[in-house]
Amino acid sequence: MEKVIAVIKGDGIGPDIVSQAIRVLDKTAKIFGHKFTYKYLSAGGDAIDKYGIPLPDETLNEAKKSDAVLLGAVGGPKWDNMDGSKRPEKALLGLRSGLNLYTNLRPALMYKALSDASPLKREVVSDGLDILIVRELTGGIYFGEKKKAEDNSWASDLMKYSTAEVERIARKAFEAARKRRGKLTSVDKANVLETSRLWRRVVTEVSKDYPDVELNHLYVDNAAMQLVKNPKQFDVIVTENMFGDILSDEASMITGSIGMLSSASLGDGKFGMYEPIHGSAPDIAGKNIANPIATILSASSMLRYSFDMDDEAKAIENAVEDVINSGYRTFDIAGEGSASLGTVEITDKILERLV
Ligand code: IPM
Ligand code: MG
Repeated sequence: MEKVIAVIKGDGIGPDIVSQAIRVLDKTAKIFGHKFTYKYLSAGGDAIDKYGIPLPDETLNEAKKSDAVLLGAVGGPKWDNMDGSKRPEKALLGLRSGLNLYTNLRPALMYKALSDASPLKREVVSDGLDILIVRELTGGIYFGEKKKAEDNSWASDLMKYSTAEVERIARKAFEAARKRRGKLTSVDKANVLETSRLWRRVVTEVSKDYPDVELNHLYVDNAAMQLVKNPKQFDVIVTENMFGDILSDEASMITGSIGMLSSASLGDGKFGMYEPIHGSAPDIAGKNIANPIATILSASSMLRYSFDMDDEAKAIENAVEDVINSGYRTFDIAGEGSASLGTVEITDKILERLV
């Protein structure tokens, strides 16, 4: 198959890790007889430096014309003092909404070989963790009307959801739960927020179409607590944009391997945007120490979800798992005093095992 992949390396460690994911994609293409063409686009701080804006029209338009987007990370202290509308993060939000990617899949997966890296007690996370967070990505308080007083004495962000927006994300979550362990937890704040009462009503209504999936509802504060108390109770969690932002950071931390976690942002069709869960880590940029695995696994999700290349995705995942099980680590997961490999060298090990 021939596919065009839009590549946004972004800022900080973005270029370090994306270049390694491309090496893995290239070898995969070679083994399985595909042709991937890369279209390099600018967004985030990189675009601010080059064009004065975080998301040039050309980036969005070219991304739309491609088969999928692979993104490193955006942002850094250099652009931290910029006005809200000009910050690098604005590029991410613009891509998500401009490409209508309303479903964000964030798997929090703990590799058994890394269970000592979790900050939770061993018995709480024993035998690994496998939670999928389905975060609504183009609505809610992130995209509601923003206002502030001329004299800066007040500011407001509107949280708004339509039933249609909740229904489509709920369906994606039920579909995902159906393919996994058949359990869905919907997280809201229905004791306080009107949007959450709407959310709960719609999710409950949609659940009638999925009698095989067991649904429960949790308030977000309780969900945050349950995630550290007993994370193994969760299979799929579905929640609105900001709650999902917060809970996915928490879930990724308890796996102890934020440098290993990928994400996929999807809409109605096959097109998607794939990026690691972690940020741009400017303090370690360009030093060949960042963990490229989250980006490599994001690339494998791209093959699976956007290109229907299940065997290819599995081959990459197996190679990564084999490298981890063989004891190779980057510094973030090595543990104090243990030897670790650089960004390029751990990718070499993955490439050796990719067959
Ligand atoms: C994430 C990030 C973004 C978000 C930021 C960088 C805008 O935290 O992808 O989780 O809040 O969605
Ligand atoms: Mg976040």
